[in-house]
This record gives sequence, C-alpha cells and structure tokens, in this order.
Amino acid sequence: MSERVQFATRVGAIAASVGSAVGLGNIWRFPCEAGEHGGGAFLLIYLACVLLMGIPVIVAEFVIGRGTHRNVSGALQQLAPGKKFHWLSWMWITASLMILSFYSAVCGWIVEYLIQAASGHMSGLTLEQYHERFNAFVANPWRCSLWTVLFLLINYYVLRHGVKRGIERVANVMMPLLFIILIILSVKALTLDKAAEGIRFLFTPDFSKITPRVVIGAMGQAFFSLSLGLSCLLTYASYFNNSNRLVRSATIIAVLDTVVAVLAGIVIFPAVFTYGMTPQEGPTLVFEVLPAIFQQMTGSYVWNLLFFILLFFASLTSTISMSEISITFFSEEYKMSRNGATALNTGIAVVFGVLCALSFGVLNDLRIFGLTLFELFDFVSSNILLPAGGIFFSLFVGWYVDRRFVRDQLTNFSTVTPRVHGIIGFCMRWVAPVAITIVFLYGLFGH
Ligand code: TRP
Repeated sequence: MSERVQFATRVGAIAASVGSAVGLGNIWRFPCEAGEHGGGAFLLIYLACVLLMGIPVIVAEFVIGRGTHRNVSGALQQLAPGKKFHWLSWMWITASLMILSFYSAVCGWIVEYLIQAASGHMSGLTLEQYHERFNAFVANPWRCSLWTVLFLLINYYVLRHGVKRGIERVANVMMPLLFIILIILSVKALTLDKAAEGIRFLFTPDFSKITPRVVIGAMGQAFFSLSLGLSCLLTYASYFNNSNRLVRSATIIAVLDTVVAVLAGIVIFPAVFTYGMTPQEGPTLVFEVLPAIFQQMTGSYVWNLLFFILLFFASLTSTISMSEISITFFSEEYKMSRNGATALNTGIAVVFGVLCALSFGVLNDLRIFGLTLFELFDFVSSNILLPAGGIFFSLFVGWYVDRRFVRDQLTNFSTVTPRVHGIIGFCMRWVAPVAITIVFLYGLFGH
C-alpha cells in the first residue's frame, strides 16, 4: 500500500482540495442565491450549514480517505470487510459523472466567453444584445459542443499527468492566481460609485426572505460548494500523508471556500448597483449582466478577460477533482492503467457533457420528468445523491467505523490534539445526519 502516490507537499494537498471546492458554485451560484434569498440572512444560514454540517462531513471523508489510502470502494471494503457498503461506490461514480457532465457544459460557455474576451469581441454591446448573444450561443449546437469537448480535453490532459505532476501542480499555480485575480477585481469593484449599496445588499440580513425553501437552498449550496458527499474529498485525502492535520485542513478549506464565495459577491453586487441593474438576475448574471457592466468601465477588455480567466481556473480545478473519483476507482478496483481510466472518464463525460450542452438548444424538448438532461443531472446529483452521501459518510464514520481508527486519524496517531475534537464528533454523529435528513426529505417531498 505504501507504493501509492501522495501529494508532494501539504500546501499542495490543501491547494488541490481548495481547488476542488472553489468553482462555479462559489463564483456563479453563490452570488445568485444570496442575491435572491435575503443577502446577509442567507449568508448567516450558509455559514451555519458550513460549520455544523460542512466541516464535520469533510472530516468524515478525510478520515476514511487518509486512513485507508484507497479509492472509495477499496476504503469501504477495508473498513467494513464482508459488508455490502462498497456497492454504494457505484452511486458516487454515477453522481460524479453526472455532475462532471452538466458542469462541463457550463465550462464550455466559459471557454467561449474567454475566447471572445481575449480576442476583444466582448465589447460594445448593450445588455439586450448580450442577452441575445448568450441565447444564440447556447442554442448553437456546434459551438457549445465543441467548447465542452475542448474543455474536457484540457481536463484530460492535466489528469493524465497524475496526482503530483498534474493535479497538484495545476492547483499550485492556479489557486494563488485565482486569489490574486479575485482580490484585484474586488478592489476595483469597491471603488465604484455605488459600492456601498452593493455591499449593503450582500450583508444586510433580510429575514423576511428566509423560508424553509431558502434554508434548504443554503444547505444544498454548502454541500455543492464544498464538494461534499460524493467521495471527492475522500479521494483527495487518500493522497494525503500522515502528517496532514485533518481537522485543520478541513477548516482551512471551508474558510477559503467561503471567502471566495463572499469575495465573488463583493465583485458582483457593487457593479450591479452602480450600473443600474437588478441583482435578481439568476444564472444569466455572469454571462449577460457582467459583460454589460464591464463594458461601461474603463479598461473593460482587461476586466472581462480577468473575470473569465478566474472562472476558467476555478472550474478546471473542480472538474479535475470530480474526475479523479472515478479514475482512482477504475484504476484500483478494475486494474486499469491510469491513462485508460482517465480516457474512460473523459469518454463518458464527452458523451453526456455534449448532451447536456445541447439541452439548451436542439435537445431542449427531450424531457425526462419534465426536466432537460442538464436539469435532471443537476437535480438528481445535487438534491438527492449529494445529501444521501453526506448522511452516509457522517453516520459511517460517526457510528460504524472503529473508534480507535477514527481517533488515530483525528490525532495523527496521538501526535496532535485537535481542540474541537468533541464538537466535531457530536456534529458528525447527530447534527449533520439529522439536519441533512430533514433537508433531504423536505427537498424531495416538501413542495
Ligand atoms: N465544489 C465545486 C464548486 O463549487 C464543484 C465540485 C467539485 C463538486 N467537486 C465536487 C460538487 C464534488 C459536488 C461533489 O463548483
């Protein structure tokens, strides 16, 4: 077992995990959700979800991954020999491929916008024209498919280089750059005329907007944003070495992920208010409203370009982590070569990614339960499989796995004493599973 690869450095391990967590969920989805659901009030509930459910479930995944140094199926076979738990791996493999597919459809749009921004074709239009342009683009089968495939090939290229030379190296370069770009953009946003209004919108709690539905949205958002419940962080933790402090790493990841989400809000809302737009734009915010806003600033070329580079980095480090789940699984459980497993992962994602990309155009009428393929994959994976995985991991580590094993992982074999040990254990056994179950049932049947 000691032959297995590990991340070369602790910083690299954290960079890779933060890279997984920070993605479209932070920059694209969080600002929309917060904007629609009560600003500061949403933020408070989101923080509570991160603390009470997010961190305990990250720690649970870390304990399994780092303690066994195996893929999710191998890990469950080792921790529960002779039991059937490891069959659940198929659920996570399927879910990870579903998320990878619809996620890469959006990544295809990012490639398109990145190219447009770089070649200077993003300027000079009105909001109305950006709207038309976006609709025309997503309805164009060839361009969308082409960019989705291109993105997946870049993803493939990185993954082929393996854990240290691919995943870790890319994270070590892209994550610091991502933070730098985000800070430049937020400083710029704060100098805009109506920055204060945007900041107030983001941080003033409006509790009248908080409904059970919003609480559930906040939890779903926390899970998606922290890459939880799919054995993604479990897989990365299987490459951690034994000196990595799991509770500390989990906290760093949760904090940085939240910081990025809030910074993205700080970039977006001051601009939205300054240029007289409304914040309730939903998903089109990033692809229509922001270009229209950048367009009115001096140096719009640079702001556009920086923003889409930011999105590109954030999403690439995330798709890498989703792919790694099935790559490790296929190569370790089915004795495939890493290259073969990577090709298999990319092949599946290309087929379903293109189908998802087309569901905004030619395949829009192909409906299953009234949802397009894109919406179906999103719904099934984010609303059902992710929380189900979260419940499983917290219960499994909280109640089933040998106490000594868990303690050894949390204390690095009694060499460190995490101060919040007891709280984490309590949240893992009680708070997280109960809260996730309530939210999960409500999400399925409550409306
Ligand atoms: N966390 C990423 C984001 O915010 C998406 C992501 C990466 C993910 N890996 C995951 C979501 C695993 C769920 C499970 O965009």
